[in-house]
Amino acid sequence: MSLSGNSLPRIVGFSANLQRPSKTRALVEAVAEATGARLRADIRLFDVVDAGSGLGAAWSRDQLSLPARRIVEAIEGADALIVGTPVYKGAYTGLFKHLFDFVDPAALVGKPVVLSATGGGARHALVVEHSLRPLFGFFSAQTVPTSVYGSDADFSNGVLSDDGVRARVFDAADQLATLLGAKAKPAASFEAAPAAALSAPGR
Ligand SMILES: Cc1cc2nc3c(=O)[nH]c(=O)nc-3n(C[C@H](O)[C@H](O)[C@H](O)COP(=O)(O)O)c2cc1C
Repeated sequence: MSLSGNSLPRIVGFSANLQRPSKTRALVEAVAEATGARLRADIRLFDVVDAGSGLGAAWSRDQLSLPARRIVEAIEGADALIVGTPVYKGAYTGLFKHLFDFVDPAALVGKPVVLSATGGGARHALVVEHSLRPLFGFFSAQTVPTSVYGSDADFSNGVLSDDGVRARVFDAADQLATLLGAKAKPAASFEAAPAAALSAPGR
């Protein structure tokens, strides 16, 4: 893993937008930019448009088109993820789940993940907690505590403009950078305390 060597941590952003411009992609980009301002990292962003129609047409991993397979492999090889999905019918999009259905179940264990989503309104804001967090729980990933949700009203001309959502972007980026920074540090040396120091007072 790159975190154990001298190379930069690899962060992959994946947004499940089917169109561009995209509010979801803008949200993932905002988290990526904020993370990059806190931590030197190799950050790469992808969306479903990059994957192309070869994603939805694949029923097994060996049927994935080259662009779609590259995204799956980038996700598996990343040290951390920033994921985003538009809300479709109250949940993540079908193609978001379809892509993660191809990801090796062991590939994300312990990896930090920022969860984000956009929807038309605020009603489905908890999709990040009720859809995304359990999915990454399946992978035993380390989702950061602050998830980010934006609705149409939180964007102006495709750019995130709401201060409250931006504050959550910064919080999530802080948490991601802290987790990656902590993983990059070598384990502190441990010296056993003398036996007397470990015993309870009065014994
Ligand atoms: C098929 C479909 C289903 C949608 N379902 C919901 C929904 O259940 N709740 C919601 O808030 N918005 C819903 N939306 C609106 C999108 O989530 C919203 O416009 C989103 O920000 C689009 O993201 P994008 O700009 O990245 O494509 C739906 C849109 C489509 C096309």
